[in-house]
Amino acid sequence: MHTGTTLTQFIIEDQRHIAGASGDFTALLNDIVTAIKTISNAVNKGALIGVMGALDTENVQGETQKKLDVITNEIMIRHNEWAGHLAGMASEEMDDVYLIPNRYPLGKYLLVFDPLDGSSNVDINISVGTIFSILRAPVPGQAASMEDFLQPGTKQVCAGYALYGSSTMLVLTTGHGVNGFTLDRDIGEFVLTHPGMKIPADTREFAINASNQRFWEEPVQRYVSECLAGSTGPRNRDFNMRWVASMVAEVHRILTRGGIFMYPRDTKDPSKPGRLRLMYEASPMSFIVEQAGGLSTTGYERILDISPENLHQRVPVILGSKNEVEVVLGYHKA
Ligand code: AHG
Ligand code: MN
Ligand code: MN
Ligand code: MN
Repeated sequence: MHTGTTLTQFIIEDQRHIAGASGDFTALLNDIVTAIKTISNAVNKGALIGVMGALDTENVQGETQKKLDVITNEIMIRHNEWAGHLAGMASEEMDDVYLIPNRYPLGKYLLVFDPLDGSSNVDINISVGTIFSILRAPVPGQAASMEDFLQPGTKQVCAGYALYGSSTMLVLTTGHGVNGFTLDRDIGEFVLTHPGMKIPADTREFAINASNQRFWEEPVQRYVSECLAGSTGPRNRDFNMRWVASMVAEVHRILTRGGIFMYPRDTKDPSKPGRLRLMYEASPMSFIVEQAGGLSTTGYERILDISPENLHQRVPVILGSKNEVEVVLGYHKA
């Protein structure tokens, strides 16, 4: 499809080739896009509309919620609950499955999301995002249970993220490649600007929160120390480093110019096998990364193959440029 195509047009044309497509998915995606435009507006207005700062509530993972964590969660719910495409929703900011209110019909999809990713960055005007994943409801038209959501990432129908950066972008996959759209505020539409996004196989840029170094396992210690050794070390080249602390921004950078991102397994808190959450961070991002030709692993297994045990499960994440992720995987096998 040519550059300049709107997202609406893109989805309709994409779905036209799928036998039995009823238009439900197209309509669902349209509602998600409306929610994302609404979130983009709220994030962009920021202090002008009094949405900055924290609340005194905590979410299920014990993080203090920002005002915008709660506002964006509410926006996602309100825009997606009414139309009859969903049998349930789940989010970082809700302990349990969100049941569609009785006054609305139930549909055949499940929506899982991180309404505001990188929310520690929101008060300092650094990029944040939204991540979403669409699954099929095992029993269409019936209220979803928690178990219904616990499907491996390979079962995703669609995964996407919005990046509220210097421009607002939406990047998504339905399982045949990755396409990026930029919000044109003048016409209120996402326009295809990054067709067929591909992650370069090689890179000289890595991203990791180095303050956790003393907790890393041996393979990651080795990999990072070799990157730092640069052209005088075993890798024979200099590396650059970035850490935004918004996974959406890191993944977007990697989709644009390559790189490797790691939030690996560590010994910081034995009850947490990693920092990032499988169902609404690791899994959708892994789908996108693989569709763009990259790799995504815990170091021990492919993230998309993991069968979730609960909604808020955490996993180690190592993703990005294929050849570089393979180096880290090799160190895990050694
Ligand atoms: P969230 O804001 O949705 O809770 O996610 C934050 C995540 C992820 O986006 C980022 O990569 C990571 O946490 C940042 O962790 P550090 O604070 O350890 O840098
Ligand atoms: Mn959070
Ligand atoms: Mn997040
Ligand atoms: Mn979040």
